[in-house]
Amino acid sequence: MPVTTTQMLTLLKITFLLNFLLVGCSEKKESQKTEKKKTKTALTIIKNDDCLNCHSIEDKSVGPSYLKVAQRYESDFSTVNRLAKKVIEGGGGLWGGGQMSKHPRLKSNDARRVVRWILSLDDSVANPNPLLATPSVNLPAALQRTSADSETGLALYVYSSENSDSTTPQRTGVVKKVHFVGEDAFGELSKASTLKMTGFITIEQRGKYFFKQVRIGKGSVVLNEATIVNENDWDRETDIDLEAGTYPITVEYQLNNEHSHLSLQWITPEDEYYRVIPEEVFTINAPQNQAALLESSHSLSFLKATINR
Ligand code: HEC
Repeated sequence: MPVTTTQMLTLLKITFLLNFLLVGCSEKKESQKTEKKKTKTALTIIKNDDCLNCHSIEDKSVGPSYLKVAQRYESDFSTVNRLAKKVIEGGGGLWGGGQMSKHPRLKSNDARRVVRWILSLDDSVANPNPLLATPSVNLPAALQRTSADSETGLALYVYSSENSDSTTPQRTGVVKKVHFVGEDAFGELSKASTLKMTGFITIEQRGKYFFKQVRIGKGSVVLNEATIVNENDWDRETDIDLEAGTYPITVEYQLNNEHSHLSLQWITPEDEYYRVIPEEVFTINAPQNQAALLESSHSLSFLKATINR
């Protein structure tokens, strides 16, 4: 069912307001525990900084609307880095007059988190993987699937860093599990590639999940628009309360040398130890009957995915 832009914008507005309320409440709690380091969500940062003086979600003001920004760019590593840098350093020239002020006190991690959030505003849930029509030819066998296989796994896009400003992937394919370890884990992929894996993860049982991305180099995991692992916390765990349902997930990883490895693991409510997230829970496309539901749950993400840090 196509959701009209107006409907989507209304949802965004509601989400935005609800988030303000939720963020407001949690801040009160946080301030009582002075020792605990505060983790900022994208929305806390946007709210506490001066972004909203010049931007709104859907309408042009001094700067472009965040929705327009999301529609203009892909949400890949290099774009996120470039836009985060621009937010910190300020600048103009791309949106027809007007300069963005500098934000030198904004940490680059926080800037990237905000930019990722902005870019996720237009994620097309109905057709998340338009590039799958061009399957990869050069990936190691373990990374390839035939069309006879069911659609479990995640869509893989490989970007070459030499060409990092381009948003066109060099190769595409399908991964079953996010588990690249051992010698030659990445086959003939260039040592300077960036991988992006996207699709959906189905949570059967409601409860507390622990996620971690074991890796060398930079990577991130975004679950239902919430960044649960960012570039800097390698091998660190995030616990998150999840309702049963199907959520969009994006895993990114930047190869950096011959020892590059990556493994995405979790502890489910029934388990005690980390194990590699099994392929059965990943699907490339949103399940048909869930598509409509997802359109709304996607923008109401923060209500469903509550990160405990
Ligand atoms: C003083 C007004 C102002 C403030 C404050 C401001 N912006 Fe901007 N922003 C702009 C303008 C103007 C542009 C368009 C710049 C251009 O044309 O290249 C822009 C562009 C952007 C872009 C797109 C950049 C690109 O290259 O396409 C992003 C992302 C962005 N702003 C995020 C933010 C965030 C996040 C904050 C708060 C930390 C913020 N802005 C605060 C005025 C502002």
